[in-house]
Amino acid sequence: MSTASRAKITAVGTYVPPRVLTNADLEKMVDTTDAWIMERVGIRERHLVETGVGASDLAVEAVKSLLASHPFDLQEVDLIVVGTVTPDMMYPSTACLVQHKLGIKNTWGFDVSAGCSGFLYALNAGVKFVESGKYKKVLVIGSDVNSSMTDYTDRAVCIIFGDGAGAVLLEPATSDGEGIIDHVAQIEGMGGEFLCMPGGGSLNPASHQTVDQKMHYIHQDGRNVFKYAVKKMAEMTERILKRNKLTGHDVDCFIAHQANRRIITATADRLGLPLEKVIINIDRYGNTTAGTIPLAMRTALDEGKLKEGNLVLIAAVGAGFTSGATLLRWAF
Ligand code: UT7
Repeated sequence: MSTASRAKITAVGTYVPPRVLTNADLEKMVDTTDAWIMERVGIRERHLVETGVGASDLAVEAVKSLLASHPFDLQEVDLIVVGTVTPDMMYPSTACLVQHKLGIKNTWGFDVSAGCSGFLYALNAGVKFVESGKYKKVLVIGSDVNSSMTDYTDRAVCIIFGDGAGAVLLEPATSDGEGIIDHVAQIEGMGGEFLCMPGGGSLNPASHQTVDQKMHYIHQDGRNVFKYAVKKMAEMTERILKRNKLTGHDVDCFIAHQANRRIITATADRLGLPLEKVIINIDRYGNTTAGTIPLAMRTALDEGKLKEGNLVLIAAVGAGFTSGATLLRWAF
C-alpha cells in the first residue's frame, strides 16, 4: 500500500475512575495474597467505577483527555468505533451514547465485540475507513467496566479485572513510511466456553434462575485461556513480523494487551525483545479488557518509550477466542 493512503494515530487519551481496589483490599474479600497476585499475574491495584457509571462515561472521559492533549473540533469526526464487551446496555450501541454525550452532530459509528482484542479490532476497522480516502478523522475507543460482571467472591477472576478506557484519533498519514503498516487477526470460536458471560443474551435472558446461577458474571477457565494466550500472542506477532520481513530486533516498542504479566514477558522473550522495549502497566490498572492498549500507549508516551519514528508492535488475545497484531510506524 502506498504511504499516501495509510492511517496514523495522531492523539491518545485515557481515563480510569478514581476508586482504587488494592491487593490488600482483596485479601480482606477473598482467600488470596498480594504475593500470589504479584507473582502469578503482576497486578498491584486496579480502578473501579462507582455505581451508576457505564462504559460510555469512561469513553467520554477518554475522549476529553485526548482533546486536552490534541485540541480539534469534534464536529469533524467522521466515525466513532468503540470496542467494548460491557456496553451500558444491549442497545443502543456505546458509539451512539458517546456521540450523543459529546454532541457530535454529523457522524456515525458502531461497537465492536471482541473481548480483550476489542480495541485492536476497533482500531483495524477504523484504519480501513481512513485508508479508503473518504474518512479524515476517526475516533477509536476501547472502554470496559469489568466490575459490572465480576463476582467479587471468585478469587480466580476478581483479582484480575479493572475498569478503564482509552481513545485514539486516526487521521490520514502525511509523510513517507509513517502510520499503520499492517495487521493480522484471527477468531477461533472453540475457545468461547473458556471465557464468557453466559447470561443476559438471547440464549439465556435475565431471569431469577440466571441470577441464582451467577450467569451474569465472567466465567473463566484461567489455565486454558493462559495457555492459548501465550501460544497465540507469539504466533500472531511472529506472523506479522515475518510477512513484513522484520524480526523482533526491528521493534522499538511492544504494546501488548495487559492480561497477565507472564503472557507479555513470554511473548517478548520469544521475540528477543529486552524489557525496556516492553510496555507493562498491568500493576496499576489490571486487565481493563478493551482499555488496556490505549492505556499502555499513554504509559509508553509518559515514560518516553514511544517516540517519533519508532516501529511499534501491538498484540492482543481475548475472549472468543480473538487475537491479532498490528504494526505501525509512530508519527505523532
Ligand atoms: O485477557 C484475556 C482474559 N484473561 C486472561 O488472559 C487470563 C489468563 N489466565 C491467567 O492469567 C491465569 O491463569 C490466572 C491468573 C487466572 C490464574 O493463574 P494460574 O497461575 O494459571 O493459576 P491456576 O488457575 O493454575 O491455579 C493455581 C492455584 C490453584 O490452587 P491449587 O488447585 O493448585 O491448590 C488455584 O485455586 O492457585 C489457586 N488460585 C489462587 N490462589 C491465591 C487461583 N486464584 C487464586 C488467587 N489467590 N487469587
